[in-house]
Amino acid sequence: MQKSSIFRTLVLSLALLAGTAGASAASDGGTFTTGNKTFLLNGKPFVVKAAELHYPRIPRPYWEHRIKMCKALGMNTVCLYVFWNIHEQREDQFDFTGQNDIAEFCRLAQKNGMYVIVRPGPYVCAEWEMGGLPWWLLKKKDIRLREQDPYFMERVEKFMAKVGEQLAPLTIQRGGPIIMVQVENEYGSYGEDKPYVAAIRDIVRKSGFTDVALFQCDWASNFTRNGLDDLMWTMNFGTGSNIDDQFRHLRELRPDAPLMCSEFWSGWFDKWGARHETRPAADMVANIDEMLSKGISFSLYMTHGGTSFGHWAGANSPGFAPDVTSYDYDAPINEYGAATPKYYTLRETMQKYADGKLPSVPKAPAQLISVPKFELKEYVPLSFGIDSVCSARTPLTFEELDMGWGTVVYSTTLPEVAKSGVLTLNGAHDYAQVYIDGRCVGRTDRVRNETTIALPPVKKGSVMTIVVEGMGRINFGRAIKDFKGLTGDVAISADIDGDDVTWNLKDWTMRTIPDSYENAVKALAGGHGDVPSELKLSTRAGYYRGTFNLKKVGDTFLNMEKWGKGQVYVNGHAIGRFWRIGPQQTLFVPGCWLKKGSNEVVVLDVVGPQETEVWCQNKPELDKLQLEKSNLHNNPGDRPDLNSAKPSATGNFSSAREWQTVKLGSAVKGRYIAIECLGAQDGGDVVSMAEIYAQDAAGKRIDRNSWTVKYADSEDAAGGNHTGDKAFDLQESTYWSTVSGVSLPHLLVIDMGKIQTVGAIEYLPCTTQTSVSGIKGYKIYIY
Ligand code: GLA
Repeated sequence: MQKSSIFRTLVLSLALLAGTAGASAASDGGTFTTGNKTFLLNGKPFVVKAAELHYPRIPRPYWEHRIKMCKALGMNTVCLYVFWNIHEQREDQFDFTGQNDIAEFCRLAQKNGMYVIVRPGPYVCAEWEMGGLPWWLLKKKDIRLREQDPYFMERVEKFMAKVGEQLAPLTIQRGGPIIMVQVENEYGSYGEDKPYVAAIRDIVRKSGFTDVALFQCDWASNFTRNGLDDLMWTMNFGTGSNIDDQFRHLRELRPDAPLMCSEFWSGWFDKWGARHETRPAADMVANIDEMLSKGISFSLYMTHGGTSFGHWAGANSPGFAPDVTSYDYDAPINEYGAATPKYYTLRETMQKYADGKLPSVPKAPAQLISVPKFELKEYVPLSFGIDSVCSARTPLTFEELDMGWGTVVYSTTLPEVAKSGVLTLNGAHDYAQVYIDGRCVGRTDRVRNETTIALPPVKKGSVMTIVVEGMGRINFGRAIKDFKGLTGDVAISADIDGDDVTWNLKDWTMRTIPDSYENAVKALAGGHGDVPSELKLSTRAGYYRGTFNLKKVGDTFLNMEKWGKGQVYVNGHAIGRFWRIGPQQTLFVPGCWLKKGSNEVVVLDVVGPQETEVWCQNKPELDKLQLEKSNLHNNPGDRPDLNSAKPSATGNFSSAREWQTVKLGSAVKGRYIAIECLGAQDGGDVVSMAEIYAQDAAGKRIDRNSWTVKYADSEDAAGGNHTGDKAFDLQESTYWSTVSGVSLPHLLVIDMGKIQTVGAIEYLPCTTQTSVSGIKGYKIYIY
């Protein structure tokens, strides 16, 4: 054992002796094992009631308050991920201090009588940038992430050793609060690779977690794909599930194992451009009540979601669905740490299963305050933020330019294009604004799958400038290898005198604008010198600064609804991303980062504001969309005329809530899948679908990364948010649903992005919401 760990253990034991520690967490080595259908804590039956909390999503001064809130809710354990990319932001530079001090977080849990479950990844998902993996891994272009790629495994081993130094001394066997440690994360929804998962298990053990209980988590539909014989298996599912169904398969395979839902989803995350997600409190509590009545352990994901500050929010996939800054999650403890009605309803139920009276709900560490409107008067253009310049024949990605987060300005000189043409950006990640000689000609938004812009005729020697902002890297599915910037070709095509002519644009100059407070301050101080004339862009994009005065400090919500898209820093703290489209319009500014007197607000707006004023309000706005185009897919012009079309398959789905495959007689070629739903399983007029896949002629699933919804006659875009794209978002717990009152038949049309050969369709009804009806009669068209 290292000196520092001996010291930590000593301090911990002294704290316990001094009586500052909660009563239940063991001080001298204890045990946590499995017995017959139960966990055993120090040899006695124990039900884990865990609260998932993420330390980077909570300002450190508030950590203990949030832990106490969980304790008062009746929880006995805190569950946390370890986010590799926040600890190793540059290769070999590890940081476990301050906001990153995971050992202190665990000690605070122990001090408050809570046990701890640690989930060190290396991949964590969590709607976190790249699922917790560091972006710099992508500097090795051909790296195979979450596989036994030698470089990936070498880096994992180094990181895990550091985690071990921090946390292995805090396992229960050594007097600490940690009872369980997770190996990898939901590998079943990524692939099938037991040797890889086993290698991660070995690395975790080797890092010092020698005798603590190790476990895996997955979905009921796929946990056997990677389940290792020597590890505990736990299931993940959400509010509204049928508990017995979720554990049925596990019970068959391991009849004597204790049962645990290691992620029971209290709500869900929000993405830019779609309504705020909620889940009913009554359903959540009913599920927890049932689990507790059956002695089933659980971890409530999230009990308090908090905030993905700065650039740490990730993006979902298939498609590209970046997550908003708030990670409120409709959790019982809201984003700013207050108890919601959901909290109190759950607390009543938890009280039934508690040993004694639950502690009273702690007071908030800060009051909620508001600040009247004020202007951010100071302004410099975006180009003042340029940090480095380089040139190459083809465009380079952020990773090739050695920049993790921010914006790159790409410029090149154009040939003469005498006629109007089309500019195609293949793989502009993520938000590209295109200028010719300083004038904006259009933009592409990866969220909307846009790749082309109509161009006016251009003169030889004109300069094209493309400003590409990167959002969060994808954190889910195979697409996590998500390079930023211009990741493919840029070409202009035009019809010149009857000939289709294409120019592949070469010889690019790239200028990086890293996303950091330091860089913003440098820009506001005048930048790095003269800005070349081609970067004089007619836009209000740039850096803005202003101040506001406070007599009293408190938690508050900065309203950004008049602004375009970008980042905010308050007193040097990265507060997070904003985007006019919503649904989130305010950013949580914790009072612990404010001060009496003057406070500074810096905004980097890559699009430009409508007005340069901001204000702080005393409640958040998480559900206000300001879309340029509706996110419903009900444009009558997109509805195919199927009257004379011949379906490739017709029939009835069964009422079983499981995968069902429809073979199409013979394989059919087409770009679109149209599913006409003739009836619902429950006889009503509402149908839903959790997931859909198309198989090729050989029975292999067709990649869904470029799928979009072409048309849906009805989508429930309110509350729970059940638009058509939820049918292929790789999340079995989200689903497309029509709304009540719209008559049958219903129609969902999916654009696969290109012509495919389809041999079969796989359909999954909603498995997690038992009140939601699946489809009965169907007609499937491929065209
Ligand atoms: C999965 C992952 C979590 C999180 C949730 C959705 O269960 O394991 O990290 O992404 O989905 O919030």
